[in-house]
Amino acid sequence: MGFTQQQEALVNSSWESFKQNPSYSVLFYTIILEKAPAAKGMFSFLKDSAGVVDSPKLQAHAEQVFGMVRDSAIQLQATGEVVLKNGSLGAIHIQKGVVDPHFVVVKEALLKTIKEASGDKWSEELSIAWEVAYDGLATAIKKAMS
Ligand code: HEM
Repeated sequence: MGFTQQQEALVNSSWESFKQNPSYSVLFYTIILEKAPAAKGMFSFLKDSAGVVDSPKLQAHAEQVFGMVRDSAIQLQATGEVVLKNGSLGAIHIQKGVVDPHFVVVKEALLKTIKEASGDKWSEELSIAWEVAYDGLATAIKKAMS
């Protein structure tokens, strides 16, 4: 079975919860750096700060990542596939030194952040919907990197 309207709705509603509170973006990077401390130096907005310090760039970047996963959920529901709209994403991630295991770390951080953001609305189905949408997007980015 493909990506359902119910799954798309679950992603949409928790995306709204995520956007409502900037502290979730800080949480997202905090979890990434807990799992992959060496990744700190890869991010222009983290490399020179002690720990994860909030900034407009940090917020914008987190919103792009979560927003693109949400867009992928919409694409999966409508067409069954994820097409990258930003043609330079492959090159940017190669240039930053991103490798496959980083995508697992970012996925785990994204799912934990969504769990926090959705509170008592969280469910296994909601988490799976985010995971499927993320995997589709990550596959498209990795293809663009190869
Ligand atoms: C930059 C999205 C996975 C590290 C970016 C940008 C976007 C993006 C939209 C900005 C590109 C631009 O400047 O035009 C995503 C999405 C991902 C993903 C949607 C997963 C589905 C990853 C992973 C890593 C990573 C796994 C490694 C931990 C970076 C870094 C930058 C970047 C270091 C440059 C940020 C800066 O210094 O300003 N990503 N990314 N990304 N991404 Fe990703």
